[in-house]
Amino acid sequence: MTTTATTVAPTTETGAARSFLFVLGSSRPGGNTETLARKAAEQLPPGVGQRWIDLADHPLPDFEDLRHDSDHVRPEEGPTAVLLDATLAATDLVIASPLYWYSVSASVKRYLDHWSGWLRTPGVDFKKTLAGRTLWGVTALAHEEQEVADPLVGTLNNSAAYLGMRFGGVLLGNGSKPGDVLKDEEALREAKTFFARQAPLAAFPYEG
Ligand SMILES: Cc1cc2nc3c(=O)[nH]c(=O)nc-3n(C[C@H](O)[C@H](O)[C@H](O)COP(=O)(O)O)c2cc1C
Repeated sequence: MTTTATTVAPTTETGAARSFLFVLGSSRPGGNTETLARKAAEQLPPGVGQRWIDLADHPLPDFEDLRHDSDHVRPEEGPTAVLLDATLAATDLVIASPLYWYSVSASVKRYLDHWSGWLRTPGVDFKKTLAGRTLWGVTALAHEEQEVADPLVGTLNNSAAYLGMRFGGVLLGNGSKPGDVLKDEEALREAKTFFARQAPLAAFPYEG
């Protein structure tokens, strides 16, 4: 359930200063997804931290599934370490992925796959750290009918539920070529209050 609040709380319920990590997953710079995410971010108060990481500038290696083999080792350098540390530091995690084949882009999917390794990396406490924090989504799509993005919304909702996170929902904007989303007046209107929404604890669909 969302509320009609129009301002973003500067602290979490526990009083911690909020800090947003925007993970950009487009295959081109300056696309509609980033433009829409920046419109929403304009509403964040000055005291709220913002960090923007473009996965194209921090390419993650293919994920290797070591779950039943050997322990994952905490990455000390490179894109994997940057993304792990940034993810652990954020109170609010924003996945800004274009809609590709009705779901998240490959770079975002790979980032999410790495969560599986981080969940099993000794000393990281990934699940405990992310539990109670908030996952948000921003996406741009060419299709006019937004329900075609349901697989992306489901991926993010269920991932948040698995981690015990809150889920703020997905801000959707329409567009094909860069800049198109600036013509989507409804998306721009929603961007103004998107991060002011109440974000309930995420639940799997079968939990009702
Ligand atoms: C590989 C690829 C797959 C796409 N798949 C879809 C899709 O399934 N549904 C859709 O409506 N648009 C699809 N599009 C269009 C993009 O979602 C649209 O151009 C969007 O504005 C791209 O976001 P960006 O500008 O942030 O890169 C696809 C585009 C590409 C390049």
